[in-house]
Amino acid sequence: MDNPELYATVNNLQRTDADDISHEFEEDIRKMSGRCLDIGSGPGDVVMDFILPKLNPTATIVCSDISEAMVKFGKDKYGENSRVNFIKLDIETPNLPRNLVGQFDHVTSFYCLHWCQNMGQALDNIYKLLRPGGTSLLAFVANDSGLDAYKVLATMIRYKPYMMDANRYVPFYQYTNRQRKTLKTLLEKVGFEVCHCSRREKSYVFHKLEEFSQFVLALNPFIKRMPIDLREEYRNDLVREVMRKKIIFNQSENNEDAYSVMYRYHTSVVYVRKPL
Ligand SMILES: C[S@@+](CC[C@H](N)C(=O)[O-])C[C@H]1O[C@@H](n2cnc3c(N)ncnc32)[C@H](O)[C@@H]1O
Repeated sequence: MDNPELYATVNNLQRTDADDISHEFEEDIRKMSGRCLDIGSGPGDVVMDFILPKLNPTATIVCSDISEAMVKFGKDKYGENSRVNFIKLDIETPNLPRNLVGQFDHVTSFYCLHWCQNMGQALDNIYKLLRPGGTSLLAFVANDSGLDAYKVLATMIRYKPYMMDANRYVPFYQYTNRQRKTLKTLLEKVGFEVCHCSRREKSYVFHKLEEFSQFVLALNPFIKRMPIDLREEYRNDLVREVMRKKIIFNQSENNEDAYSVMYRYHTSVVYVRKPL
C-alpha cells in the first residue's frame, strides 16, 4: 500500500468512517492540545480534513507512516501548513527512536493498526510515545471477511510464489473470538486506562463495480510483485473472491447490470489514557 496517488482517489470508505468517528469523539478531540501524533496517516487527507480542524487551535500534529512514498506525498501536498509535519515511522518497531519517546500529548490512528502483526508492540510503542496523562483515539479493522480472499488466492499455484506472506495482510484480530474483550485486556496490560473500547459492525455501499475493484486493488500488496501478463487474471480473481463475501444488489429499476456492492466489516474503536 505505497501508492498514495491511487489510495487518495479510492479511500471514501476510510474517509466516511474517520468523519463518523471524529464526530463521535469531537469533544475529546477538541481538548487535544500541544503536540499530537497520527500513526499510519497515508496521504494525510484524513488528518487534514477531519482531525486537524477539530483539535484545539494551538495544537500541532505530526503525521507518520511506514511508507516513504506516503510521507513524501503528504509533505509535498500539505508541507506548507505550519501546524503539520510528516515523518517516517514504523509503529511496530522494537527500537522506537529515542527522540520521539514521551514527546506527544495525544496520539490518533485511523485504519492502520490492523496491519500490525505484533499488536502488543504497537500499543506499547503508543504508550511510550505519549506523555503521562496523554490520550489516544484509535480505529482499525477488527475483521473483514473480504480479506479472506488473500488466503484463498495464496493457495493457487499461479499466485502462490507472490503471496507467501499472505497471512501478514489479514487483520490482526480477524480470527480472534471475543475481539473486544481480548483488545481491552491487552490495552490494560500495556498500562492504559481504557475510557472506551468497542467493536462495531460497519458497512459501505459501492455504487459502481469499478469503484469497488479500485478499492480492493488499492489495498492489495501482491499484484505489483506479479509479472504484467498475470495481473489482469489476478485482478479478476481477487475482485470475484472478495465479492463472494459481500452483498451484491441491484438498485436500478431500468438497468439490470447496475450492481452495487455492500461492503460489510467490523471496526474496533478505542479511546485510552496514559495514567499520570
Ligand atoms: C489504509 S491506510 C490508512 C490511511 C489513513 N489513516 C486513512 O484513514 O485514510 C493505512 C496506512 O498505514 C500505513 N502502515 C501500515 N503499517 C504501518 C506501520 N507498521 N507503521 C506505520 N504505518 C503503517 C500504510 O503505509 C498506510 O499508509
